[in-house]
Amino acid sequence: MFSLPNKVTIIEVGPRDGLQNEAKLVPAEKKLEFIHALQEAGIEEMELTSFVSPKWVPQMSDSKEIVSAVQKTGRQFVLTPNEKGIASALDAGAQAVAVFVGVSDAFNKKNINKTTAESMETLKPLVLKLKQDGVFVRACISTAFYCPFEGAVMPDDTVSLCRQFTEWGIDELSVADTIGMASPKESYDLFSQLAEAFPSVMLTAHFHDTRKMAIANIYAALQAGISRFDSSAGGLGGCPFAPGATGNVATEDVVNMLHRLGIETGIDLDQLCAAVEKIEPYVSHPIATGMYTLFKNRK
Ligand code: HMG
Ligand code: MG
Repeated sequence: MFSLPNKVTIIEVGPRDGLQNEAKLVPAEKKLEFIHALQEAGIEEMELTSFVSPKWVPQMSDSKEIVSAVQKTGRQFVLTPNEKGIASALDAGAQAVAVFVGVSDAFNKKNINKTTAESMETLKPLVLKLKQDGVFVRACISTAFYCPFEGAVMPDDTVSLCRQFTEWGIDELSVADTIGMASPKESYDLFSQLAEAFPSVMLTAHFHDTRKMAIANIYAALQAGISRFDSSAGGLGGCPFAPGATGNVATEDVVNMLHRLGIETGIDLDQLCAAVEKIEPYVSHPIATGMYTLFKNRK
């Protein structure tokens, strides 16, 4: 067996990546109940919401209310692509910012209406200022393996985009398989390359489960030395601008695998499933992830 970490950090992205794809608006109060239940289950890092154009993603238009009302524990991210979003987020009391950009131009255009280079030009002064002000910054790198429009992405292109962020002093890179197409070998190879290239940055893997390979990809990334994973309670989510991208890997299934491997997460699985139960009535489909189904059948 390869050497695996003793402890893994889960960054829960359900309230943001999970809910952003839901067409029917979820009341802010219900989002807050979901977030607080996740915190009670032991989640210490979470993407709460995003500060983006409400015309592009109406579901996130209550972001100020969420950030102002949330219980402040652990590290809580808000996602935003521009100056307007960063200013509103900080004004609402956000403590940590996640910026995002795609390695592929075609995806980035659909998602942010800019080429990758244009996005990086916009982000550079914003990230430098945030770091000067001592704000924790994470960079979410979309289409790190495959793009829904351009196909395979060269690993060196992903590494070189990541390098620009590290030169700006970023704290964390969350590297995403946006459309859930990577194989475990590709996961192992890219995360090994990133771990070698950026030993002093927090490296996080973000897998969507479109082809049901996310758990295998996480196992491969663990073997490459990664100990931080984004996941979404209930397997909710997907990106509205990435055709074919279904939900993120389900937090409860990741936590179960990690616990079975003897890896600590600090998360209580039953309480996590209880948080999923809170949000299930407000999403467009029944939730049927492995561990949540077992939890419901036990009741
Ligand atoms: P645009 O139309 O080119 O920009 O959109 P604009 O500057 O012309 O702004 C359009 C309107 O939005 C204006 O309002 C702005 O004020 C407003 P109007 O004058 O028409 O009334 N606006 C904003 N409002 C609130 N907050 C803001 C903001 N910015 C502008 N921050 C823009 C460009 C970037 C704004 C748009 O494309 C956008 O909001 N995109 C966000 C898309 C998104 O949220 N995608 C999902 C998140 S990424 C993801 O899920 C991937 C990830 O999970 C990793 C992975 O799996 O790959 C992270
Ligand atoms: Mg995502």
